[in-house]
Amino acid sequence: MAEADALTIRRAVPEDAPALSRLLQDLVSAGTRSARADAEFVLSQYVQNPDGICCFVAEDADGALLGLQSMKRTAEGNEYGTPGGWGFIGTHVSPSAARRGVGSGLFRATREAAQTAGVPAIEAYIGAGNAGGQAYYEAMGFRTWRKPEGAVCKRYDLAP
Ligand SMILES: CC(C)(COP(=O)(O)OP(=O)(O)OC[C@H]1O[C@@H](n2cnc3c(N)ncnc32)[C@H](O)[C@@H]1OP(=O)(O)O)[C@@H](O)C(=O)NCCC(=O)NCCS
Repeated sequence: MAEADALTIRRAVPEDAPALSRLLQDLVSAGTRSARADAEFVLSQYVQNPDGICCFVAEDADGALLGLQSMKRTAEGNEYGTPGGWGFIGTHVSPSAARRGVGSGLFRATREAAQTAGVPAIEAYIGAGNAGGQAYYEAMGFRTWRKPEGAVCKRYDLAP
């Protein structure tokens, strides 16, 4: 894996929303995303989610955004069946920047934020047919622990 040149990982700010919306739209066009991709969704779900623990972006030397990783704290009885008080992670890397270490760089920052936030574990809820997403999280150290209908859930346990 070649590390992306001059990759910067930083916290997302509301002004990133239009560019992140375009990045998510590219994933929709590539067929690897089916959820909403508009700027309002980016803000409410990722950048300014009231349950958010962190939201990091990766940018290249020209300031172009290559990826987004968000993590929120789960509520008890949430719709995904994830235990309450865990981190719940989502990763979105531009199709044009795949396999260049963007996702790996983002997870280094998210893992540190999870440790600081004191969550016991992080869950990734991945589509059963998303082999690339499953391989990515596996490479980050996540392991499968449950398989709800149509999904594979992988967990990453933090050291206490
Ligand atoms: C999955 C995704 C986040 C990976 O991001 P990335 O920046 O390409 O990941 P990295 O370059 O850091 O890859 C790290 C390792 O993960 C594994 N990996 C990543 N993508 C993979 C793929 N498509 N197939 C197989 N292994 C993969 C590899 O082991 C890779 O190391 P290597 O390139 O040295 O072999 C990105 O492709 C993406 O956003 N996909 C669409 C949305 C999605 O599926 N999100 C996650 C599930 S909800």
